[in-house]
Amino acid sequence: MDWGMENRLRQLIPNGRCFFMPVDHGYFQGPTRCLEKPGQAIKALVPYFDALFVTRGVLRSAIPSDLNKPIILRVSGGTSMAGKDLANEGLTTSIEEIIRVNAAAVGISVFVGSEYEHQTLMNLSKLVNECENYGIPVMAVTAVGKELEKRDARYLGLACRICAELGARIVKTYWCKEDFSKVVNGCPVPVVIAGGPKCETESEVFEFVYDGIQNGAIGVNLGRNVWQSEYPVAMAAALRAIVHENANIKKAKDIFEEAKSAKNIKSSGLACK
Ligand code: 5RP
Repeated sequence: MDWGMENRLRQLIPNGRCFFMPVDHGYFQGPTRCLEKPGQAIKALVPYFDALFVTRGVLRSAIPSDLNKPIILRVSGGTSMAGKDLANEGLTTSIEEIIRVNAAAVGISVFVGSEYEHQTLMNLSKLVNECENYGIPVMAVTAVGKELEKRDARYLGLACRICAELGARIVKTYWCKEDFSKVVNGCPVPVVIAGGPKCETESEVFEFVYDGIQNGAIGVNLGRNVWQSEYPVAMAAALRAIVHENANIKKAKDIFEEAKSAKNIKSSGLACK
């Protein structure tokens, strides 16, 4: 592996584990709850995450250029919640732009099994061809659009393997209760767990993240379950401990409760009330 590629991957995945913070939701959802002002939403969370997943528009308009964390640039899009089909994505960003904003990696969604399977898989292949020339890793996102029921091991295993075969260096996919280890074991590149809509309780989040890490995922890419929480900093601290310190569920809950009761923790720099 070339030095540049290796250096970027090591920044993104220090010590073999990673906690990515996605704030890219607006690219198809618009001003998502608690992410109306992305710069404020992440301010107090910066010490806890390893990389920020963001579009070029939010990066330029809302993220300070002295941020000391690597950027994963969201480079697919072209659809919206109001449109016909979320799967009909194209590439939104040129290789020159990826280099210009100093991205450490790029993220792109593919929609396996959808009407746009071929189109989005070819988007991934083209992106890999461009990015590999410059040592920039591609993270593929196995997206399901509004069809959340698709998230079982058979489907996720198929989608992850295809992403790796087409050259993704990292694959982000959903956790599933049954046979998640089969998803990870069938994918020859590291797997990162995606979040999804906010869970009812913090414990639910700790449980699926812990299980995913125990079954071979190298980390998480969790947004709404962190910055839509009433206690985003406490959530981030607890999740970081599961990912980077092998904390179990009890330990994560203790960290959460302790951080929650710290003075001003609820509103420290965050936009969501
Ligand atoms: C959308 C994405 C987002 O980065 C991801 O879904 C955001 O995380 P969360 O679901 O945890 O809010 O890739 O396809």
